[in-house]
Amino acid sequence: MLSTLHLPLTFPNLMVLLGGLWFATRLILYVVQKPLKFLRGPAPTSLLCGYEYDLFQQENVGDKEYKWYEEYGTAFRVSGVYAEDVLMTADPRALQYILQTSGKLSCHMAIRYRFLRPVDFQRRICRLFDKGEIHQRQRKVLNPAFSAQQLRQFLTMFQESALHLSRKWKEDMAQDGLTGKKFNIPFWLGKMTLDIIGKTSFDFDFGAIDNKEGIPLRVLFSEIFKDSIKPTKLTILQRSLERYSPALFNMFPIKENVRHHTFLTELRRIARNVYERKEWAEEEDVRDKKDILSVLARANHTEDTKRRLNDSEVIAQVATMISAGQETISFSTTYLLYELSQHSEDQARVHHEISDLRAKIGPDSVPTSQDYDSMPYFNAVIKEALRLHSILPQAHREAANDDIIPLEFPIITASGEVVSQIPIKKGQRIHVSIGAYNRFFIWISLACVWGPDANKWNPSRFLGSDNRMSQTNIGVMSNLTTFSGGIRGCIGWRFALMEMQSILFTLLESFDFSFPVVPCKSNAGKMEDEYELQRLPAGLMVPVVKGKGAFGPSMPLNVELRAA
Ligand code: HEM
Ligand SMILES: *[C@@H]1O[C@H](CO)[C@@H](O)[C@H](O)[C@H]1NC(C)=O
Ligand SMILES: *[C@@H]1O[C@H](CO)[C@@H](O)[C@H](O)[C@H]1NC(C)=O
Ligand SMILES: *[C@@H]1O[C@H](CO)[C@@H](O)[C@H](O)[C@H]1NC(C)=O
Repeated sequence: MLSTLHLPLTFPNLMVLLGGLWFATRLILYVVQKPLKFLRGPAPTSLLCGYEYDLFQQENVGDKEYKWYEEYGTAFRVSGVYAEDVLMTADPRALQYILQTSGKLSCHMAIRYRFLRPVDFQRRICRLFDKGEIHQRQRKVLNPAFSAQQLRQFLTMFQESALHLSRKWKEDMAQDGLTGKKFNIPFWLGKMTLDIIGKTSFDFDFGAIDNKEGIPLRVLFSEIFKDSIKPTKLTILQRSLERYSPALFNMFPIKENVRHHTFLTELRRIARNVYERKEWAEEEDVRDKKDILSVLARANHTEDTKRRLNDSEVIAQVATMISAGQETISFSTTYLLYELSQHSEDQARVHHEISDLRAKIGPDSVPTSQDYDSMPYFNAVIKEALRLHSILPQAHREAANDDIIPLEFPIITASGEVVSQIPIKKGQRIHVSIGAYNRFFIWISLACVWGPDANKWNPSRFLGSDNRMSQTNIGVMSNLTTFSGGIRGCIGWRFALMEMQSILFTLLESFDFSFPVVPCKSNAGKMEDEYELQRLPAGLMVPVVKGKGAFGPSMPLNVELRAA
């Protein structure tokens, strides 16, 4: 049977086959009992691979997903892998409930989460952050690494690396005798954010901007998501089986897992080296070090056993930092520069604020975090870019108990009833549409979070008071869900924000960004954009030149030196 399918007889494929039998059973159940059958929802194009396949097939993140929301309202049913019912929602109150208010459930002394994070993409890389107590302890240990005092130290590293890139670009232009050049933005920002995360998380120099040779970890890292862009149906099935039986997949890994494993092994080797050097060093020497690994090492020396981590946990934390804190920032900043290159008046306005600040602090000073925060439009464009381009468009959760999900905007059920809560059963899978929430506006159902310009770039919405149409307070910043929220919200959000501020300030101070144009073919004398931006769905939302996704992240912009 396997040979007729042209599948090599490997264990994962055998599992897929077993999954097929499981699927047949499910199919019968599909007709008989479906936990969410009272909800409306779209039929998937592939019954076996479910809606996830549809989402990965979208040209841009949201193309299909947003249409579903327009048709069904803020919550509906989708059919997942093996026809499993999945609840999909972007309703503000539902999101707040799932991510925040009910993040944990205290029963006596033990802490259990109401909504668990299934083994997914992110977790497969770092194998970390388990249920309840362990997760809480790890967050506690990590928190000092993101304290205000710590972030001030990191700020200097952000600024140094941004200046480094700026110098590199200037040298590059000078070499060719130019005052402007086209650079592939995510390529360069990716190098910079990798250098930064290396230094901040474990005092390691990736040397990416300088293209230093002989650093295998960098090569491994650049390829880590290679199998994750446009996964085939088979990969989607294999991944979902891993969810049912992670142990088996550790024994018989698929290509993706092998890549992640190689990366982790190399990371472990380097981190251990750095770590051992620290152990030999004098206590004081370690005390001075500000990288995250040193902070964790100090935590291990405390008497408080609750705050101790064992070796494998420390390495796992560092691995998470590196995988969570690099491309997220580089892509978010890429989208920001894209918007500024498309809206030159906004770029001019931000540059104006930067010049004013520079005049105030003098030519030789480095801005402080308060300086950055004092520029309203500067911060509004960052927030608007984070809103319009949520780099992680979705989060996944699983109900730990039977529960009732409240909605801010009522929906119409399959039987035509209007309801504002959804009862769910234990184990119910939930697809939290972070990106859809950030752009939510539907005329027909009057379910509005943002105004009618929700799909448009408009930084001014963040000046003045909250002008959303939702009553729900959500997320960690400006009612955006980009960083999720609650106990499992992004621990690095201030870090990310400060890094984006540093990059924007440093680059805009020296350069002007514009979108490349070419003579218009159909209309002589006019110019048109050289290419279209595509927001590729691949776990993370990857910025690419439309149709060129296979070559990795790409977005060339014209970078011009500003007159001094
Ligand atoms: C623009 C940049 C970033 C965005 C948009 C972002 C977004 C997110 C989101 C949405 C989550 C929650 C995922 C879920 O609930 O399934 C998350 C978790 C996390 N992020 Fe970020 N992140 C960014 C940068 C960073 C940075 C710079 C770091 C660290 C240096 C970081 C570390 C983490 C960690 C450790 C978690 C897991 C937290 C937990 O499970 O308790 N992130 N991030
Ligand atoms: C480290 O701690 C984790 C739980 O936090 C545990 O699963 C693991 O076995 C421990 N490893 C060692 C080497 O003690
Ligand atoms: C933490 O401390 C324990 C016991 O003191 C030690 O065995 C372990 O190697 C230390 N791990 C780290 C990461 O410092
Ligand atoms: C978030 O939304 C709530 C409710 O609408 C509002 O009271 C609050 O001011 C908002 N917060 C921010 C930072 O905009």
